[in-house]
Parts: sequence; structure tokens; C-alpha cells
Amino acid sequence: MFDAALLDAIGADVTGREDETETVVATLDAGRHLVLEGPPGTGKSTLLRSLAHHAGVPFVFVEGNAELTPARIVGYHDPSRVLAEGYSADAFVPGPLVRAMQSGALFYVEEINRVPEETLNVLITVMSEGELHIPRMGRVGAAATFRLIAAMNPYDAVGTSRISSAISDRVCRIFLDYQSETEEAAIVARRTGVENAPLLAAVVALVRATRKHPQIRIGSSVRGAIDLVLIAASLGRLRNSPIGHPDVTLRATLTALSGRIRVDETADRAPEDILRELWLLHLGGEIGGGEELGLAGPARPNGSVREGQRPPGKQTAPADRPTDHPQGPTPA
Ligand SMILES: Nc1ncnc2c1ncn2[C@@H]1O[C@H](COP(=O)(O)OP(=O)(O)OP(=O)(O)O)[C@@H](O)[C@H]1O
Ligand SMILES: [Mg+2]
Repeated sequence: MFDAALLDAIGADVTGREDETETVVATLDAGRHLVLEGPPGTGKSTLLRSLAHHAGVPFVFVEGNAELTPARIVGYHDPSRVLAEGYSADAFVPGPLVRAMQSGALFYVEEINRVPEETLNVLITVMSEGELHIPRMGRVGAAATFRLIAAMNPYDAVGTSRISSAISDRVCRIFLDYQSETEEAAIVARRTGVENAPLLAAVVALVRATRKHPQIRIGSSVRGAIDLVLIAASLGRLRNSPIGHPDVTLRATLTALSGRIRVDETADRAPEDILRELWLLHLGGEIGGGEELGLAGPARPNGSVREGQRPPGKQTAPADRPTDHPQGPTPA
């Protein structure tokens, strides 16, 4: 169950994160409840989903949000059956928490920081007592393998509050920060199938630079790098041009990242403007070289240029062509 074989299985799904995976498995083996905390896109869900998939114990998933009332996780008495038969165990429709407790499942709560306080209070009782008292139903005990595993994002500002100390005192916590540059490039390669190492390195460097730029409040996670590379690959295919061509990478950069970054209010700059600056620094100029800039996927059947498609040789770097801004004009 929570053993070395599980570590290997998770290791095949998750790039890097060896220490964190080992700690997660050890914490669950010790019978403790666990929260993974970290910025968006740092692999919390990837790790926990893999764990749930391979742990060999039942697994119950709930998505944390404001509508997750106590009744939604605990369950309710079916009104029509109560009318017909009165209150009985049979009339009770168990919710995900009760199902997880009875079957000794991993109870996986996504975005626990979005769960309303009154629902968290139910979880506190279960974590401290290992049981729940349901009116007109009685006591429900948690089977020995029941564990709460949860993910939360400390920077998530929408409809969230910090979880109370009553909860945090009952769970162990592992912080997942951004991974190294090499690991992020490996993640992007894995998710996109693109094997162009110089391009992957440049894209990851650009995306990491959004996290440190003095005028960006919130930068992009590795998700932005994945999308950038996928869009560049598709654009390259559509145009029959190399994936690293400046026109391709600039469009992909703006499309993948302009909605993801949050510019500091005091900077008075458009996201596109800052992204062009970072693009010039990291991707300006053709990355990698000519035809060998390939995708891992199947090659195009022929290299012909379709009607309406600009031949790659005629393209100029869009940075020098202000009328061709796919995201709208650069603000003055
Ligand atoms: N270590 C990793 N190994 C493999 N894929 C990863 C890893 N880290 C991130 N990814 C990929 O990056 C994307 C985001 O990861 P994931 O959804 O796990 O992040 P998260 O930490 O749960 O983010 P959020 O806080 O926004 O929910 C996914 O496409 C995932 O496949
Ligand atoms: Mg997640």
C-alpha cells in the first residue's frame, strides 16, 4: 500500500519531486492526514492523482468550492423514503465523506482553501475523533485506512480564506515550490511531445522570468510553458514553418501567457508589452535552426506550402512589424 512499490509507480507519472513523493507516502503510512500546499501548476494534483491511482485503496474525490455544504459531503435522508418509511439507515444517502470513512478510502479534497468553514468543521471532527455522528442515523466510524489528503494554493484569492488553525493543527503539510529549470523543461517535453531541447529551454526560461519580473505581480506556471509550446507546434504545422521561427514563438508567447500573468498596477504596462520584452530576450531570433527543428509526432506528408500560407522565407520578425500583432496593437 504505502510502500516502495508505490514510490516507483508515482515516480513514473511525476517528473522529479522524489523527496516530496517519499514524504507524502511516509506521512500516509504513518496514518496522518496531509495537505499539499504550493503555487498553481506545481504538480500537487498530478502527485495526488497518481498516488490515488496506485495506492491500491479506494479513493473518493471532492472539489473544494463555496457550494460544498456539510450535507453535500456527509449525505442526507432521502425525503421521499423518509415520508414512506420514516427515518432509517436505508433512507440515508451517504455523501462522499461517509463513503470514504466506511470504505477506508483516501478522501481527496481539491482546493481545500475554498471549502466553507462549516464544512471544514465537519472534517475537523472526523480527523480528531475518527468518527461522525449523524442525526437520526447514528455513529459512522472511519476504517483504519481512511486519510484526508488535500491540495491548496496559498495565492488563490477567489472566495477563499486561510484554513483555520483547528484544521492546520490536525494535518501535516508539504510545500511544493516551483521545480528546477531542468525539471520544468522535462515536464513540458512530456506534456507536449516536443523534443526540441533549445526551444524547450528557452520557453521555460521565459516563463520562469515572468515569475521574477519586477513589473509582474503573478507570473505563469509551467502550464503556460506547456501551452506556449503546444501552440507553437500547431502554428508551425499550419504554416509549414519551424516551431522556433520568431513569428511562431511570438504569437504563441502572447496567446499562451498574456492572460496568465498579472501586471503590477503601478507599472502601467500592458501584459503584451512586457511579454514582448521577455520574448526578445529569450526567444527572439530563430531558436535551434532549420529543418531539424522537428516534433516528436508524425512529420507532414509533404513540405509544400498551401494556398494562402506565407512561405517561411518571406516572414519577417513580427517585432518589426507592428501591424501584425495578433493580440491587438501595442499600447502607447
Ligand atoms: N512534476 C510534474 N510531473 C509531471 N507533470 C507535471 C508536474 N508538475 C506539473 N505538471 C503538469 O503541469 C500541469 C499543472 O500541474 P497540476 O495540475 O498538478 O498543478 P497543481 O499544483 O495542482 O495546480 P493548482 O494549484 O492550480 O491546482 C499539469 O498539466 C501537469 O501535468
Ligand atoms: Mg490542482
